[in-house]
Amino acid sequence: MRFEDKVVVILGGNAGIGLAAARLFAAEGARLALTGRNAQTLAAAAAETGALIRVADIGDPAQSAAVLGEIADAMGPIDVLFCNAGVGGFAPVADVTEAFWDTIHAVNLRGAFFALQQALPLMRDGGAIVVTGSIGSVAAVPGNVAYAAAKAGLRAVVRIVAKEVLARRIRVNMISPGPTDTEIFKRDAPEARIAAMRAMLSDVVPIGRMGEAGEVARAALFLASAEASFINGVDLYVDGGCLELR
Ligand SMILES: NC(=O)c1ccc[n+]([C@@H]2O[C@H](COP(=O)([O-])OP(=O)(O)OC[C@H]3O[C@@H](n4cnc5c(N)ncnc54)[C@H](OP(=O)(O)O)[C@@H]3O)[C@@H](O)[C@H]2O)c1
Repeated sequence: MRFEDKVVVILGGNAGIGLAAARLFAAEGARLALTGRNAQTLAAAAAETGALIRVADIGDPAQSAAVLGEIADAMGPIDVLFCNAGVGGFAPVADVTEAFWDTIHAVNLRGAFFALQQALPLMRDGGAIVVTGSIGSVAAVPGNVAYAAAKAGLRAVVRIVAKEVLARRIRVNMISPGPTDTEIFKRDAPEARIAAMRAMLSDVVPIGRMGEAGEVARAALFLASAEASFINGVDLYVDGGCLELR
């Protein structure tokens, strides 16, 4: 019960890693608020976890500001913020359009940054922030340039926010998943392609399989908890050895 009576907000808490984290936080006594775009999956997550839910596109900072304010009004100061929303997308350098680049960056970097900025005044001193990055920010994966650049930018954001909030004793850390079996690589893909992707991604992980959402979520809970009280500004690779064992 590491989060008993703590107010925990998960941006992107209705699918994949965020939903897995919501289940774990709820099981440890958190008072939860979840955001996402999909009202249906949010409602299902609320039914399961008892969370307060708000529909908001993190790509639109005005929406983030509105829902974060509503959440803090309803629940009080935020103890833990898990800034997890993100979108994927592959295109080789030659095929990257401005629109494609902007779509990825609007959510993964710009949207995440402004959500952090807006959440900070609503947070309790001594709280914790965990941000979801990606090992893509440091791995040279062809086709991943737009996503990798956004997540690398987010890594820099985490360092600087962490430094700026030192006086408030708010710790700010990042988790960077390796290939994890969630909706992100399956959305709108036919079954055969999903199977091929899963096989290809399992192959690149030294331990021989993709991660499960819960395995990544557990790392987020650790960094958000008092167990990580001396850990600040780090990027924790949750990747089955992808970065260090290749
Ligand atoms: N799975 C991997 O292999 C992997 C690897 C490295 C990093 N990551 C990162 O892990 C995080 C979680 O991804 P996942 O794998 O769990 O994928 P997922 O199952 O697709 O979940 C993505 C989450 O982000 C939310 N989201 C996406 N765009 C949003 C927007 N514009 N506004 C608000 N919410 C938005 C989604 O809500 P809706 O469904 O309502 O849009 C959902 O809750 C992301 O930041 C991703 O970049 C994943």
